[in-house]
Amino acid sequence: MPNPGLPRHVAIIMDGNGRWAKQHAFSVMMGHRKGVEALREIIRYSSNIGIKVLSLYAFSTENWSRPEAEIAALMRLIVEFFRSEIDELHENKVRIRILGDINALTASARDAVIMAQERTRGNTGMQLNIALNYGARDELIRAVNALIADARDGGSSAEPLTWKDIEHHLYTKGQPDVDLLIRTSGEQRLSNFLLLQSAYAELFFPQKLWPDYTVADYQDALAAYVQRERRFGGRTT
Ligand code: FPP
Repeated sequence: MPNPGLPRHVAIIMDGNGRWAKQHAFSVMMGHRKGVEALREIIRYSSNIGIKVLSLYAFSTENWSRPEAEIAALMRLIVEFFRSEIDELHENKVRIRILGDINALTASARDAVIMAQERTRGNTGMQLNIALNYGARDELIRAVNALIADARDGGSSAEPLTWKDIEHHLYTKGQPDVDLLIRTSGEQRLSNFLLLQSAYAELFFPQKLWPDYTVADYQDALAAYVQRERRFGGRTT
């Protein structure tokens, strides 16, 4: 495979907000707030350099087990984020898609994300995926159930299912696979994020906690990505 150049799809697990807050003797929510500042810069930069798709893991299907107050504050932060950022994102032609089941979100968070998706639907710039109440296993279960329903409605087809059929029912339908996946804070896990879409992704695990993660750190990951040899299971020698 040739030198990969700029990744088309970057996925980020923004980990370490809680530890950052603890280090600074702040509340967890201050950590998440600082995390939003970091993500604002990374979104802006990604869009400027021509990344096609940026996926951010903001709230997982497992995050519901956190304290109620933290969940409520995260939901408010999501509303605030869309309120303050939507004009700039729209101006920069960013198209927003939420990955995950938004029905479980608070009404105000749900309204905010629906509005953001609607408003940016026709944009032709960077695709910004924000994973909210997202889990890869949940995504797969939904895809399989949708395929079963399709087969029932249309009468069972004798054709075996293909990857294309599954892909058609994923939240990321129509988007390229993840090329580069970054998880901050030194943890080396995928935690149920875009597992199928990351089948051939290059993985990076920088030590920095997410609120400390800067555009310069991101540039390091992009530069290291260019040096990676991607074989997709093939052979180059
Ligand atoms: C992981 O840190 C981070 C999260 C679970 C939430 C990420 C959310 C944001 C950055 C802000 C909200 C997003 C948007 C789109 C407005 P952690 O709390 O698990 O950190 P720890 O592992 O150090 O405790």
